[in-house]
Amino acid sequence: MSCHTRPDGPPYAGGYGVNTPFGVIYGSNLTPDLKTGIGRWSLAAFTRAMHEGVSRDGDHLFPAFPYYAYTELSDGDVQALYAYLMTRRPVSATVPPSTLPFPLSVRFLQEGWKLLFFRNRRYQANPSKSAEWNRGAYLSEALSDCGGCHTPRNLLGGEKMRHVYAGAVVDGWIAPALTDANPSPLPWTADALFRYLRTGVSPLHGAATAATMTPVIRDGLALPVVSDSDVRAIALYFSDVDHARERATDLGAMMRKAVAISSHRSEEKYDSDAYLYHAACLSCHANAASGPLPARPELALNSALTLAEPANFIEPVLRGIGSRDGAPGLVMPAYAAALSDAEVARLAAYLRRTRTTLPPWKDLEKKVSAARRDLPYE
Ligand code: HEC
Ligand code: HEC
Repeated sequence: MSCHTRPDGPPYAGGYGVNTPFGVIYGSNLTPDLKTGIGRWSLAAFTRAMHEGVSRDGDHLFPAFPYYAYTELSDGDVQALYAYLMTRRPVSATVPPSTLPFPLSVRFLQEGWKLLFFRNRRYQANPSKSAEWNRGAYLSEALSDCGGCHTPRNLLGGEKMRHVYAGAVVDGWIAPALTDANPSPLPWTADALFRYLRTGVSPLHGAATAATMTPVIRDGLALPVVSDSDVRAIALYFSDVDHARERATDLGAMMRKAVAISSHRSEEKYDSDAYLYHAACLSCHANAASGPLPARPELALNSALTLAEPANFIEPVLRGIGSRDGAPGLVMPAYAAALSDAEVARLAAYLRRTRTTLPPWKDLEKKVSAARRDLPYE
């Protein structure tokens, strides 16, 4: 729904622009309108599009439509999707043409892309794993397309299959690795993942803050369509992908350490960076006692500070966090108008220095001003 509905437009009637590194591609109209939608599509044509990325008229579809994932869907699930879409209200709406430059705009050239990156296949259960694990793998690989953002792409936009879930940059944010290369101080256990994917926040990690991850949780995986047991299966699968069980040895100690430095100012008496952090941020981010509260993301446990690049720190500080992101109804104010590039850079450097043992980030001020230029408005 999120890719096939334009902002405030009728559901599934298309027109949402997907930004790719190559140009904008608009989600098509999936309502059963005869002229502008898929009203004339047979089940066979629909199945071919989902499994092989070929349109009803025989054209290749652009891989902005993740048929390379949907190819794993069972025939039964494709039929169910077809039945659902064909019973929506038809909406007459013509979708704008994509803005891909020549020669990428030539659909028959997609043939080459397919030869390189695509295999037509259904999901194969892994018999050495439990039924719940396989359910989670199927939902993640075939339907949720977690890899669409968390797997890096090569220059031609194909997923780097040898680096599945190794993390990637999406719209200025980093979609962190979901393997054991994930840099969060505490591993993502099945319980933590379940809570994060169900509610948008994990107290031992933080909140979903990116405009791209929020719809996955609020729309893609939302109740009542996606049951708790399905979200649990996805959580179980990814806790195995990141080997959380083997790594989850010292959760309590790590958590206590983070809480102990949560309101820490620094050893230096006149550390002006610590003062800035106290004045602007600490009121909402200090934790104490037995553990971090979901409404107060513990920055010492957050991957925003431990990633190799500072994007996931800079973006929420400049943009703020809306009431739909993270914990529903909670907001963090935007600081773009209140803090200069140099001040945001100082905060980033200070927290990296006092909350992690990692090397300092480079060129912070330049990165803040680049992120500021991409803000929707000032
Ligand atoms: C449209 C892009 C997109 C899709 C699809 C997506 N993610 Fe994400 N995800 C992100 C981005 C960007 C972030 C980092 C920013 C944030 O915290 O919101 C993120 C953050 C996360 C995190 C937090 C990682 C950390 O260490 O902070 C987890 C866990 C996660 N995603 C799991 C998933 C799972 C599981 C799926 C599939 C069900 C998924 N994501 C699908 C973009 C995406
Ligand atoms: C009014 C309270 C408030 C203030 C002040 C505040 N924050 Fe936040 N911050 C939040 C909340 C709440 C969240 C989580 C959002 C959610 O769950 O919806 C958050 C999230 C974040 C995140 C993202 C962490 C994650 O979970 O991915 C970062 C980074 C961050 N804050 C940094 C800062 C910095 C730096 C300052 C000072 C310039 C600051 N915050 C000031 C309330 C605040």
